[in-house]
Formats: sequence, C-alpha cells, structure tokens
Amino acid sequence: MDAKAHWEKVYATKAPEAVSWYRPHLETSLALIERAADARSASIIDIGGGESTLVDDLLARSYENITVLDVSQTAIDVTKKRLGLAAEQIRWVVADVTVAELEPGVYDVWHDRAVFHFLTAMEQRIAYVRNVARSVKRGGHVIVSTFGPEGPAKCSGLDVMRYDADSLHDQFGARFRLVESSKELHRTPFDTTQQFLYCYCKVE
Ligand SMILES: C[S@@+](CC[C@H](N)C(=O)[O-])C[C@H]1O[C@@H](n2cnc3c(N)ncnc32)[C@H](O)[C@@H]1O
Repeated sequence: MDAKAHWEKVYATKAPEAVSWYRPHLETSLALIERAADARSASIIDIGGGESTLVDDLLARSYENITVLDVSQTAIDVTKKRLGLAAEQIRWVVADVTVAELEPGVYDVWHDRAVFHFLTAMEQRIAYVRNVARSVKRGGHVIVSTFGPEGPAKCSGLDVMRYDADSLHDQFGARFRLVESSKELHRTPFDTTQQFLYCYCKVE
C-alpha cells in the first residue's frame, strides 16, 4: 500500500482522538512557532498537519498566513469541517511532501511533527530536505519533530526512523543551523508513552 492509501485508510477508520500521536494541543510546537514567528503575518506551513489542532491554535493566536499540507484528503476534510468558516483563512494542500512542488522562498516557518520519521528511504529524505531548502526563506525557521532514540520503531503500523539531535540535524546539513533541541515524552490516548525529539533550526 502506498503512503496516501495508508493514511486515507487510517483517517477513514479512526476518530481524531483515537490515534497514538493525538494530543489536545501541540504545546511544544506552538511554543517554538511563537518563538520563531514574531509577526502575525509570518508565513507558516504545517507539514503533515493531519487532524491536529495546531492550525486552530495558530488561528487563535491571530496568525494570518497559514498553509497546511497533508497527503490525506480525509484528514484535511475533517480539519476543515472542525474549523468551519475559519477554514477559509487557511491554504490547504493535499500532496506528498516528497514530491510536492512548493513555491520557492515563501515560508518563514516550516513545522513538521511526526512526518519526517516515516521517510525510511534516503531518496525520500533527500527530496524532503530539498523542498525545505527551496521553500523556506533565508533566515527562516525549521521545526521538525520525530521519534527520539528511545521512541517506538513503528508508528501507525509503519516502520519509522528514530533520531537524536545530531543525526536529525545531519539529514539537513550545514545550511540549517541547529538552534535548539529537546525531547518530549508524549502520553498517547492509550496511556503509553513515546519519546519525541524536537529540532529547531534556522536557515542560513
Ligand atoms: C503521525 S501523523 C502526525 C499528524 C500531526 N502532525 C500531529 O502531530 O498530530 C503523520 C501525518 O503525516 C501525513 N503524512 C505522512 N506521510 C506524508 C507525506 N509523505 N507527505 C505529506 N503528508 C504525509 C499523514 O497523513 C499524517 O497526517
């Protein structure tokens, strides 16, 4: 099954709160985005936003220039429905981030929680990083969260890569200056825990 078919099936069969990565609010992501994007006009893209409430929380903080990209149309539709009229303020992109043709030099902030770690093939990771390097402005910010070294080996039935700050930063290269990294113990809706790693980089 390809990535799109997998994710469409997941979102067609599971409630938003019934997936392991669910949390009511992505507090760590929000705090880093607010640090990175002072101006409310900052251009922010959430990669693999799924059904997360990050977009709701960014709108509540008056951010005006938000894009949500996900390979799953179902996830985007659920999020749009939840937002109601406010969904019209968001740019929605249904695409695989490894093949999407993103506009060059448009984003101030690139955010990804729990997408990059699904890229188990080197070519996919290279394509992803190429998209970041192309679409994020010089001086822009990149916030990527994956499973940490003690995180699970699989997510949603798929194999994942696990990273520490150095190995994740290595995937991106020297143009991305590592500003900060942190680990987070995520409590799943099933009362288990998963170690996440956050890396926050600035594009030189
Ligand atoms: C584990 S979920 C995380 C969702 C959300 N970021 C969160 O933290 O709640 C992974 C998300 O990435 C999306 N996804 C997986 N592979 C993708 C790809 N290659 N391109 C775009 N989206 C992808 C899935 O549809 C799913 O919504």
